[in-house]
Amino acid sequence: MKKESIFTLHNRASDCRARRGEVKTGHGVVQTPVFMPVGTQGTVKAITPENLQEMSAGIILGNTYHLYIRPGHELIERFGGLHKFMNWKGAILTDSGGFQIFSLKELAKITEEGAAFRSHLDGAKLFLSPEDAVEVQQALGSDIMMCLDTCIPFPATEQETIESTNLTTRWAKRCRKAHTRREQLLFGIVQGGMFPELRKKHAEELIDIGFDGYAIGGLSVGEDKELMREMVEATTPHLPEDYPRYLMGVGTPSDLVEGVRRGVDMFDCVMPTRNARNGTLFTSTGRVVIKNARHRDDQGPLDESCSCYTCRNYSRGYLHHLFKSREILSYHLNTIHNLHYYLHLMETIRAAIERDDFAQFRQDFYSKLESE
Ligand code: GUN
Ligand code: ZN
Repeated sequence: MKKESIFTLHNRASDCRARRGEVKTGHGVVQTPVFMPVGTQGTVKAITPENLQEMSAGIILGNTYHLYIRPGHELIERFGGLHKFMNWKGAILTDSGGFQIFSLKELAKITEEGAAFRSHLDGAKLFLSPEDAVEVQQALGSDIMMCLDTCIPFPATEQETIESTNLTTRWAKRCRKAHTRREQLLFGIVQGGMFPELRKKHAEELIDIGFDGYAIGGLSVGEDKELMREMVEATTPHLPEDYPRYLMGVGTPSDLVEGVRRGVDMFDCVMPTRNARNGTLFTSTGRVVIKNARHRDDQGPLDESCSCYTCRNYSRGYLHHLFKSREILSYHLNTIHNLHYYLHLMETIRAAIERDDFAQFRQDFYSKLESE
């Protein structure tokens, strides 16, 4: 059954694959290209949903694996779903757990039936089938659900990649069949390792099954930037124009710019939030390591050209002090700034595509950066 697309394409750049569009979800229309802040455990660490709203975040990411282990999807369902549980009124995309289980390595065993693994919390034996992954995400009530996939380590042989990719196709069919709540969207995940031909074949198989959107998975797993970008470049031409494309778990600000240039609409990454807590802050001229002594006496803002709450109200010297003193407020203010930087970058990218000026934007972006 061919489904109606939930994606509207506004316009395309004339000199690259960048696209400007929107995704209709059960909790609002999301303007693309978009960055989704990561809220693994039902919270974007160190900030409130109100903070997210203030910085115009329209969609965040949650994780099936973590919420399944604790507090459990049945409990969250009793609270009225993840949106109500965490008081977030925007859209939520949940990852399926495939990648988290892959990251457990020796703690996980993949069979035809599904993934057997041990909880990273107490070692309890758990099992997640493709049907379970959809059931859990339906109970969470996320607006966009992801198929359970298998991801292989880097490097992998062609034969290993073929087997893993074929299993992902069989699981994708089972996820599609288990998907009963039509108001929740379901995305397929293109694997295929570092083999362009396998990625093309896998994209075609998933398109045959028919999903609401298509993700590019299995990247940022240890390969270099060049190869990662090549794989994105080799995948997007095989994805349908009228469906959203999501590059999973990527990446740095320049990765976002390069992903958009190759036709990606959606991104997520822990980088802005995790780096904020480690004291690495993104600015228009490059990264700032706030613990460095050179910021100690600096009364200016973190980033002259940033309009976030942190930059409007606090000095570099104060942020340096909070970080050195390991104060909780350091995490909060740094996270607000880094997420604002990512979300503002995407806003600038969207405006540039609308003007069909993306190439000029990209040139300016790189010319301002001293480091990345
Ligand atoms: N997050 C980053 N990469 C992946 C992937 O390949 N699969 C899933 N499910 N999540 C991811
Ligand atoms: Zn700022």
